[in-house]
Amino acid sequence: MAIATPDPQIDASKVGLVTMRRRHVRQVMKIEAQVYPRPWSSALFLQEIVRRADRVYLAARYESTVVGYGGLITSGLEAHITTIAVDPAYHRTGIGTKLMVGLLDAAIARGGKTISLEVRRSNFAAQNMYEKFGFRPVGLRPGYYVETGEDAIVMWVDQVDSPEYAALLNRMRRKSEAPTESRSEGAGG
Ligand SMILES: CC(C)(COP(=O)(O)OP(=O)(O)OC[C@H]1O[C@@H](n2cnc3c(N)ncnc32)[C@H](O)[C@@H]1OP(=O)(O)O)[C@@H](O)C(=O)NCCC(=O)NCCS
Repeated sequence: MAIATPDPQIDASKVGLVTMRRRHVRQVMKIEAQVYPRPWSSALFLQEIVRRADRVYLAARYESTVVGYGGLITSGLEAHITTIAVDPAYHRTGIGTKLMVGLLDAAIARGGKTISLEVRRSNFAAQNMYEKFGFRPVGLRPGYYVETGEDAIVMWVDQVDSPEYAALLNRMRRKSEAPTESRSEGAGG
């Protein structure tokens, strides 16, 4: 994966999150095709976003353009992040962090206490981001990604309803709301 350098022209503090709707899906698909070897179909997104009872899909918009999105399945005390992606032109400006905060807020609001996800073994960028949200590797699914045969690491965070986790989430929220220029000092990994 190419190393992303934040574009100082992009002020990610101006990115807003909205519930993903039909009208966003065309732009979502453009990002999807760029970042995943086996993109979801638009039909799948359209099926997912209407399941309001047990799904949360968010779109991140910058000056009315969709620049990222993420989704979540909720089931009782558990939630599972199904997807998260940011337009490569906007990588490393805090939009992924903002989407994670939005998804975790939604999971907690729906009574979630533990959140899981799968990530490619080679996807260090995403793993770094998840670790900042307290996710830890708890298992491996060998050959999970059929198109490449790559293993998935299962990551998990629990007690997201605790005051300690609320403090972590607030730190991440503040970070994602800071202008890109002031974030760049802390950008490492
Ligand atoms: C993973 C992804 C969503 C992150 O989005 P982003 O907007 O670039 O993320 P942020 O700018 O909020 O960065 C959050 C943290 O992620 C980590 N990170 C992001 N990109 C990284 C990279 N290229 N190398 C190393 N760490 C990286 C860093 O820890 C970063 O924090 P820092 O900037 O303070 O160091 C984005 O890289 C992406 O869309 N990737 C393709 C799709 C994908 O892999 N999705 C995850 C599927 S499991």
